[in-house]
Amino acid sequence: MKESEDINYTLEKNLEVISQLNEMVDDAVDNILVDPDECWQPTDFLPDMAESDAFDEIRKLQERAAGIPDTVITSLIGNMITEEALPSYQTYFNLVEGINPEGNLLSPSGWVKWSKAWTAEENRHGDLLNKYLYLSGRADMRKVEQTIHRLIYNGFDPKSEKDPFQAIIYTSFQERATKVSHVNTGKLADKAGDHVLARICKTIAGDESRHERAYKSFMSRIFEIDPNGAMLAFEKMMRKQIVMPAVLMGKGGDNPTLFDQFSAITQKIGVYTGWDYARIIDHLVKLWKIETITGLDGAAAKAQDYLSGLSSRYMRLADRMKTPDEISLAWLK
Ligand SMILES: [Fe+2]
Ligand SMILES: [Fe+2]
Repeated sequence: MKESEDINYTLEKNLEVISQLNEMVDDAVDNILVDPDECWQPTDFLPDMAESDAFDEIRKLQERAAGIPDTVITSLIGNMITEEALPSYQTYFNLVEGINPEGNLLSPSGWVKWSKAWTAEENRHGDLLNKYLYLSGRADMRKVEQTIHRLIYNGFDPKSEKDPFQAIIYTSFQERATKVSHVNTGKLADKAGDHVLARICKTIAGDESRHERAYKSFMSRIFEIDPNGAMLAFEKMMRKQIVMPAVLMGKGGDNPTLFDQFSAITQKIGVYTGWDYARIIDHLVKLWKIETITGLDGAAAKAQDYLSGLSSRYMRLADRMKTPDEISLAWLK
């Protein structure tokens, strides 16, 4: 048995902790997520095709979008494709142990309700960005659709091993990462004069921010109940690094380096960078009070050491990371 395993780091124990969070998660559905009747919807930001001025509105949308640099459009397309692979994320979350042990989509369990309500909110993100990009005339939509198809076809592996602790750390990280991407894209859209797109990105970022808050609060509670297990899970997840959800978008296709191209662009234009990765680690380490938790067991104390120095390590790595000079733009018309 590995050292990390003999200090109570067992899936069984984690499942017990997860079930203790059920009520908290149930409350989060009511208090952090939004009722379908009150939520914004994609049509709030798009031309109403039933109105007589629909084509004028599309023309205005296209005029605004015409001012956005190719790099920003490419990065936006990549973000949209990432959102559109929601079926994979929904599947992933429901495969995490303890989320739906009954295998019943209509279970009254807080986790099952959360999983559905979260998916329903996320579903609007890809929908809105897809429609906006389609109407903008800036994207080669067939190529975009092919990439979405391939990404869902390929799936993804966040390497959290079905472990709910690691999965909640992953989602806490990832919701913040997507929030950062959408916020930064919104700023670039604003700068380019497309105030509607800026508002779209800001609104989606607002959703990601609520989701982030919820997942982080679940993890904070786990740290309170089982600091040793939580610390080890955080270490495990970070040693494996946080895999980007759309990493397999090009695998097996005619452009296997598609994801690398996309992430080179987000790095170059500052939508999501190595510094952001380091800053998110720093944020989570501070939020979960990693450096000051006391009374940890041996392996968890070692994990604490590792995690305490981690963000500065990634900061230094990001400082050394070269911004790519040459970037290839995919999916453009
Ligand atoms: Fe999203
Ligand atoms: Fe999200």
